[in-house]
Amino acid sequence: MSQSIRLEGLTVGYGPHRRSAPVLDRTELDLPAGSFTALLGPSGCGKSTVLNAVAGFVRPTAGQVLVGARPVTGPGPDRGVVFQHYALFPWLTARGNVEFALKRLGLPRAERRSRALAALEEVELADGAEKYPAELSGGMQQRVALARALAAEPEVLLMDEPFGALDALTRARMQHLLTRLWQRTGTTVLFVTHDIDEALALAERVLVLGGKPGRVLADHAVPSGPPDPALRELIARQLSDA
Ligand SMILES: Nc1ncnc2c1ncn2[C@@H]1O[C@H](COP(=O)(O)OP(=O)(O)O)[C@@H](O)[C@H]1O
Ligand SMILES: [Mg+2]
Repeated sequence: MSQSIRLEGLTVGYGPHRRSAPVLDRTELDLPAGSFTALLGPSGCGKSTVLNAVAGFVRPTAGQVLVGARPVTGPGPDRGVVFQHYALFPWLTARGNVEFALKRLGLPRAERRSRALAALEEVELADGAEKYPAELSGGMQQRVALARALAAEPEVLLMDEPFGALDALTRARMQHLLTRLWQRTGTTVLFVTHDIDEALALAERVLVLGGKPGRVLADHAVPSGPPDPALRELIARQLSDA
């Protein structure tokens, strides 16, 4: 099951004067269940803040985030999160890392194991299940992190520049893998990136975030089929003005 994501007047400020200089100011956004949206914007504009508010890691100063009909009050297994730095436990195998993430669901051991193996298969890493992170390449480690997020069968998948540290070839492979996964599972995806080509390759919708405080400057539907150079150029211009 996938769920919609709604930001209602989302305002986030950091530090002791949370109200004085918000990073986000009354941001409104509606991401339908099953959609794949890329959030694009220059460094420091608040992309991660949006994602972390949806994940429940950052509390809004005002407004709220809804996943389906439920207001977000903290992290939860209904939302899978993948970061650029995957933070796997080095002393656990790939399977162990995915199983560990399932402990908080209170699943019995056998079920954790079968779900972990299925998730590793889903990310085409069945062969590496018994390997330790140090034995895996960066791309493989990121696939473990993706399997860890998917194994809990989340309603939404939140990804914060997940492929930013990978070389170009591995990155392209991961993008294909993610597209196939999304087509198969229909999970709602919110994907943060500062790479315009990555946004256009993956998403059906691209939002340009920018300004201080950050807000949605542009909202583009991405036509399926070959990349549209005119759209790319328009977004590039919006980004450089953001
Ligand atoms: N935990 C934090 N404490 C204080 N300031 C923060 C924190 N996280 C982010 N910021 C600030 O909020 C702004 C937006 O950051 P962020 O959401 O990480 O942007 P982006 O992901 O687009 O680069 C930046 O100015 C950043 O320095
Ligand atoms: Mg960020």
